[in-house]
Amino acid sequence: MTRSPLVLACVFATLSVACGGDNTVGATADAPIDAADVSADDTPEADTTAAADTALPPEVPLPELQGPAVALDEDPRPGVVAITLTAATKRVKLDGVAIDMLAYNDQIPGPTIHARVGDELIVNFHNALDEPTTIHWHGMRVPDAMDGTPRVQEPVPPGGDFTYRFVIRDAGSFWYHPHVRSNEQVEKGLYGAIVVAEAEDAEVDADRVVMLDDILLDGGQIAPPMATFMEQMHGRTGNRLLINGQVDDPIAVAEPMGRVERWRIYNPSNARTFVVGFTGDNVRWRVMGTDGGLLPEPYAPERLEIAVGQRYDLEVAVDTVGAAAMVTWIPSVNAQNEVVEVELPVVTLDPTATAAPPTIASWPAAAPLPDREPNVDETITFDVVQGADGNLQWRLNGVSDWRHPIFTCAEQDTVRLILVNQAGPEHPFHLHGQFFRIMRRNGVAVTGEPGLKDTVRVPGVESVEVIAYMDNPGQWMAHCHILEHAELGMMAEVMVTPAE
Ligand code: C2O
Ligand code: CU
Repeated sequence: MTRSPLVLACVFATLSVACGGDNTVGATADAPIDAADVSADDTPEADTTAAADTALPPEVPLPELQGPAVALDEDPRPGVVAITLTAATKRVKLDGVAIDMLAYNDQIPGPTIHARVGDELIVNFHNALDEPTTIHWHGMRVPDAMDGTPRVQEPVPPGGDFTYRFVIRDAGSFWYHPHVRSNEQVEKGLYGAIVVAEAEDAEVDADRVVMLDDILLDGGQIAPPMATFMEQMHGRTGNRLLINGQVDDPIAVAEPMGRVERWRIYNPSNARTFVVGFTGDNVRWRVMGTDGGLLPEPYAPERLEIAVGQRYDLEVAVDTVGAAAMVTWIPSVNAQNEVVEVELPVVTLDPTATAAPPTIASWPAAAPLPDREPNVDETITFDVVQGADGNLQWRLNGVSDWRHPIFTCAEQDTVRLILVNQAGPEHPFHLHGQFFRIMRRNGVAVTGEPGLKDTVRVPGVESVEVIAYMDNPGQWMAHCHILEHAELGMMAEVMVTPAE
């Protein structure tokens, strides 16, 4: 049980109140932190490089995480998390067959990066692959130079190193992955979770990371990329579920009934929208957080659709004994050639009886969602043409080139962005470095998708209106997160010019 450290953490919570939910730009990592310019709203942790250790409060311990092993923090200073990540090939036994995959620190998913909001994160990255790569911090509002796209850094060559370093502005569930040939590198296993604890910890009985992926196995290997027209058209959907790196193997939870847990669900797949929900009438669950952190008002959907790249934080409680599960419904074609849903377990629950009183969970207060009127209107169209080489060219605003700027705005602008999908396949649209809210679908107000997002699903021949809070200046990528579409050109740049 993790109750007592959590209570302890709350006592110290005020020490790390930082960059919380407000809409303004917080500390940037590339500005050297120097005792002379620590301003009133800086955290005690921000002062790490200059001050003697003795001046610092003891580090508030992070709550324990269940799921992929957590990266070791090699830096003893409070407020600084320094880790090493090495990308390399890895031979994995799946279905009794040795498959060549790729891994960070020999682990698929890569190690979970665990820190607290306001911490400085230092990642010493080494590329032991035989191809260039980068690391992108999906959803995190980092300084653009640290964003890991080929727009802002030369990809790290084989054998090369790069240090990523920034102050973490937002609490929530984020993830990391390469931004070079990502359709191959992510498919083969290069991704990991980032868990940024709130200044004050939620009081729950467990905090779990669940990364739900699919992979395409073919003849004892990961199928070669872009080999079929279907894959170019719809992106790669796999034939095996990968749940925290285990093939078709649900996570089994057998804990006493009456507990309340926090589950962070990630979709790092190349192209599959996952739909999840629960079986068993002894489970209560609701959505507590989205891409951008905790929601001011949690909600309880029947089913939850998780677009590629998105994350959801759930509260899951099992009141009584009885089998239950989080499942995903996968569309598939049956013998009669009809599309049917196949229900597959992702996490099984088998609560044991207990006489202990049920947990009353408590969650830190979430910042209100921004309510700013847009001062800029932009439209992005999504379409496709066939290139001279016979391959599809996916386009944003008629251009199939990631160097192409689609718009420029100013820091603090609030942009009403209309995403217009002119073709059949869906596109999970992702904007780097900023958050947005989903306002309308096909002109109709949306109520079922509250909260801050960095990724939104744009279904075939539909439109979506989002309002984006452009509070992080720099050069940012905007793209479809179906990694095949991105690789085939559905990627562009958005410029946010810094306020003076
Ligand atoms: Cu998850 Cu541009 O990426
Ligand atoms: Cu797409």
